[in-house]
Amino acid sequence: MKKILVIHGPNLDLLGKREVEIYGKCTIDDINKEIQKLAASIGFECEIFQSNHEGDIVARIGSTTADGILINPAAYTHTSVAIRDAFSAKNIPAVEIHLSNIYAREEFRHKSLIAPVVTGQISGFGKASYALGLRALAEIINEKR
Ligand code: DQA
Repeated sequence: MKKILVIHGPNLDLLGKREVEIYGKCTIDDINKEIQKLAASIGFECEIFQSNHEGDIVARIGSTTADGILINPAAYTHTSVAIRDAFSAKNIPAVEIHLSNIYAREEFRHKSLIAPVVTGQISGFGKASYALGLRALAEIINEKR
């Protein structure tokens, strides 16, 4: 079975408690359950990883045997050359997602260092961004078969 690695970046473990007016009331466990369910329904195995540490995310991207990566890089979106370089080196299908519309927020969030080196980006659909991103990634992986 084809496999997708889902990566949640820093502070996403606090979903449901953190700035709920921006990120919503869903917890990371709620989101993970939905991701697992959707992945199974479209014939994909799914492995989920959350970390607050840049190096751990870099290592996970480098070592994965998955066919594609769905990532919410959170604050590292705007700062991490290391995560960007990890995607460039890995060169497998990858989709960047954000719960909030990063282009409608503070200016420092308008720039993603990750977007230019992944397949595409989905931003602003709340928890549906994960489902949309997963479907998009599955399409890309299936096309490569
Ligand atoms: C986020 C947007 C980022 O700017 C922010 O640092 C996050 C979450 C989102 O999902 O909307 O932590 O990636």
